[in-house]
Amino acid sequence: MEKTLSIIKPDGVKKKIIGSILSRFEISGFEIVNIKLIKLTKDQASSFYEMHKGKPFFENLVDFMTSGPCIPFVVEGVDSIKSVREMMGSTNPDEAASGTIRSDFADSIDSNIIHGSDSKESADREIAFFFEYLGLK
Ligand code: RTP
Ligand code: MG
Repeated sequence: MEKTLSIIKPDGVKKKIIGSILSRFEISGFEIVNIKLIKLTKDQASSFYEMHKGKPFFENLVDFMTSGPCIPFVVEGVDSIKSVREMMGSTNPDEAASGTIRSDFADSIDSNIIHGSDSKESADREIAFFFEYLGLK
């Protein structure tokens, strides 16, 4: 069993597909063990994506992630880090495999509906970021 951090990004909330996305995880046998709706500040979004600071898309990414409320949630299950990344599909929805969340719902690489931790280290940091550091309850 393993935990990973996923986020329904502001475009997913605006499109009213929260239920559709969460049900994919439930149908696939995963447990949602923590969840919250939050509108991130620029400081919080910058800190969450600090590994991308200095890259050309960073400012745009922070603007997008603060454009409305998002939904961080913790997914628990067997091999959840890799499985969630597979269910999301490639970062660019044009390259995402059919049937993945980004292929089915995302408009562009900048507006791609969902986040998922990319490693065990990222999952630990990102779960702590939302549910310990920000203290979401
Ligand atoms: P995420 O962290 O949001 O789950 O996405 P990811 O792992 O698939 O992609 P990552 O490389 O971590 O990039 C984070 C977000 O930045 C935007 N991005 N734009 N224009 C570009 O080349 C580019 N590269 C990344 C995407 O919105 C991506 O989700
Ligand atoms: Mg990433």
